[in-house]
Amino acid sequence: MMTSKEIRESFKDFFANRGHQIVPSAPMVIKDDPTLMFTNAGMNQFKNIILGNDAIKYPRIADSQKCLRVSGKHNDLEEVGRDTYHHTMFEMLGNWSFGDYFKKEAIEYAWEFLAEVLKLDKNRLYVTVFEGSPAENLERDDEAAGYWAKYLPENRIINGNKHDNFWEMGDTGPCGPCSEIHIDIRPESERQRVDGLSLVNQSHPQVIEIWNLVFMQYNRKADGSLEPLPNRVIDTGMGFERLCMAMQGKTSNYDTDVFTPIIKEIEKITGEKYAV
Ligand code: GLY
Repeated sequence: MMTSKEIRESFKDFFANRGHQIVPSAPMVIKDDPTLMFTNAGMNQFKNIILGNDAIKYPRIADSQKCLRVSGKHNDLEEVGRDTYHHTMFEMLGNWSFGDYFKKEAIEYAWEFLAEVLKLDKNRLYVTVFEGSPAENLERDDEAAGYWAKYLPENRIINGNKHDNFWEMGDTGPCGPCSEIHIDIRPESERQRVDGLSLVNQSHPQVIEIWNLVFMQYNRKADGSLEPLPNRVIDTGMGFERLCMAMQGKTSNYDTDVFTPIIKEIEKITGEKYAV
């Protein structure tokens, strides 16, 4: 079984071997952006590059970013302590392309890493694509769906709405259609009984999103309009603790080795047994 440390390293190695500069996690408290208090995604530290205000130093970057989702547009606070797969602070594995590769390679890399490198069961993976939004004059993401069709049967490529498949950093800022990868980690008997397809995006604790590939093309302005970005940008975010849960055959993030050593230590200090 791969440890969480090995999983994190294999992600970085995979992208380093494909020309990505590996950078450190940015601080979680944001100092120079009045639109956001805490880092809520890996892309935050690259916002000014994405908007074209800063020069592109490395066209390809990957990292593991510490995030805090406790307020604003991305707020997981109500889920924490109630379910097995949301956290206030969590780690997000991400890869970026600034005006370099776009949808095709982002999808190829993601699939290769999950299915070939980590060897997750391909039959347990589902993907979603943006269904479009006539109100915003945005079309269905047929292009992404076409690339996914190389790997998955048509019925496991699911249309998703603006809420799930158009990712925005906040009320303003970089945004674009996205494709999410979901995994079904239920026991085989349960999978025979209920098709995983019907459980994607239904808040089932064992049919969960693990990776979001964002195809950034717009800047959301304060008046709500969408302005094209100077470059097309790939911005991905994978839930590290969830990936560890899937890789380690667990049904709760808290049962992975990201948390168990801490829980054991707390048991020792308090003399209390951890019980779910
Ligand atoms: N920026 C991609 C994500 O947070 O899902």
